[in-house]
Amino acid sequence: MKLIRNPWKLQQRLEKERARGKTVGFVPTMGALHEGHLSLVRAAHRENDITVVSIFVNPTQFVVNEDYAKYPRVLSDDIKKLRTVKADYLFCPSVAAMYPEGYATFVDVSPRLANVLCGKFRPGHFRGVATVVAKLLNITGSCRLYLGAKDFQQATVISRFVHDLNLPTHVRVMPTVREKGGLAMSSRNRYLSPGERQRAVAISRVLFKFKKDLLRGKRGRLAGLKARALRELKKNVDRIQYFEVVEPGTLALLKKRQKNMTVLTACFVGKTRLIDNVIIRT
Ligand code: PAJ
Repeated sequence: MKLIRNPWKLQQRLEKERARGKTVGFVPTMGALHEGHLSLVRAAHRENDITVVSIFVNPTQFVVNEDYAKYPRVLSDDIKKLRTVKADYLFCPSVAAMYPEGYATFVDVSPRLANVLCGKFRPGHFRGVATVVAKLLNITGSCRLYLGAKDFQQATVISRFVHDLNLPTHVRVMPTVREKGGLAMSSRNRYLSPGERQRAVAISRVLFKFKKDLLRGKRGRLAGLKARALRELKKNVDRIQYFEVVEPGTLALLKKRQKNMTVLTACFVGKTRLIDNVIIRT
């Protein structure tokens, strides 16, 4: 695996790979890699000739008072893990290389997608995500891009701007990888104490119960199911930011059930903010 820090160098390398007829699979991350990330790298390896992973803790997507400074940075552990899944290139740019003095350009996705759900509580977050991913995609060039369904709103925002900006990118959204008890894997799970980790399991339990009840139920409104889910969630987590049923693609809030739905939630367990979702196709 070749470690590259310079954006121009990676751009040139991958242009050469494509000129030789190789396809490129790209997995952007912020590091502190776990099985969720590694599942994306495996998929990229399966479906492409060359696998590129980036590790960059992107300052523009963290809101004031969030965990940018203390976000886990464990590059040597990450390198070991990436070797086991056969990544070809690891891109680790510095903040100065990505946002040099005088940097002035951002990608703004419509508030309908970027200011709802997580965006309501993390103003500017998706502007930062869209900007850094657009930059990474311009550096990587034509590729398949691997994203996790765990960050459903992020995958929706990215799929939208990739399409809207005519980027030569094929987006692949892969299933959420979970711990044995159901907790969605996340780099932030390492902030949880053992007791908090146990309580956090309620998040996926409630989402899966919601899905089961919904698939069993008849037509009609979602309010009753939602109230029951919130009651159960409140017993276990410390704060619920949102629990919503939306239309995939537009993220429009739904009051009545329909064919395709995504149920998303963001909760605090102790000081740790966790997100999860389930995708429902009836
Ligand atoms: P990060 O949180 O490191 O996640 C990198 C990728 O891994 C994202 O596509 C995310 O959805 C996916 N992922 C995380 N946990 C997962 C799980 N349990 N199962 C499957 N996939 C999972 O998301 C980011 O970084 C950043 O916002 C980034 C896109 C890199 C832009 O800075």
